[in-house]
Amino acid sequence: MKRCSRMYFGTNTKLSKTDGETLLYLEQLVEETKDIGRDAVQMFVIPSFTVLARAHELLASSGILLGAQNMCTAERGQFTGEVSPLSLRENGVTIAEIGHSERRHLFGETDDEERQKVSAAVRHGLQPLLCIGETVREKELGIADEILSIQLKVGTGALPPEEAVRLMVAYEPVWAIGTQGVPAPPEYVSARHRHIRGILTSLFGYGVGGDIPILFGGSVDSHNAPDYIRLPHVNGLFVGRSAWTAKGFSGLIRQTLPLYADK
Ligand code: PGA
Repeated sequence: MKRCSRMYFGTNTKLSKTDGETLLYLEQLVEETKDIGRDAVQMFVIPSFTVLARAHELLASSGILLGAQNMCTAERGQFTGEVSPLSLRENGVTIAEIGHSERRHLFGETDDEERQKVSAAVRHGLQPLLCIGETVREKELGIADEILSIQLKVGTGALPPEEAVRLMVAYEPVWAIGTQGVPAPPEYVSARHRHIRGILTSLFGYGVGGDIPILFGGSVDSHNAPDYIRLPHVNGLFVGRSAWTAKGFSGLIRQTLPLYADK
């Protein structure tokens, strides 16, 4: 099955829930989404590191994939406070979120570090979810596409096409994310997704580059989700706040899935 014939829907819970709250949320999520066809939509949740093992037990056989919010490039060594890809694998993680805007802008991660993480994730059999996006300043300067090209080209580095088949990309304009975020106009999102698709096909060819899921994120909610999911080259949604309740998560899928299927 071509990857992009499915819709992708996921959430990164950031630092919004304690472990206990996450487990309750996941229990409700499994229940709320059990009738949604897994062939039609790939769901995933990316909680804090400390709850991964228990989250894995809860999600086992649910068809909802588990991700980690960050990952060390090294397996072992003198890297205090980091989490090894080996531990992620042991805890049932299949997706490594790399380069979320908060990692880049609050914790100073660079494109070069994201590249090393993407390649380490692939080496360890994980699916890298590379997050890219321009700041408001870069948007105002009219260089959003240049920034996205650099983040993509450096971030995916020298991944050969046979490894790029594991890649997923999330486009999240920095200025659209979080409580201070301003939702992006759909026509703006459409132009950026077209540009991202162009870069991916130039890097990996039409077969592989044309089928890498590109998710959109940043203040997605029940009002704007239908407008985003209808756009060409939007293969899914990467949602924060609006998906942090089980009803919010499943409601957004139910609202957008028929629109995705009709595209
Ligand atoms: P938001 O977060 O939906 O709460 O804006 C999106 C994200 O940071 O992935």
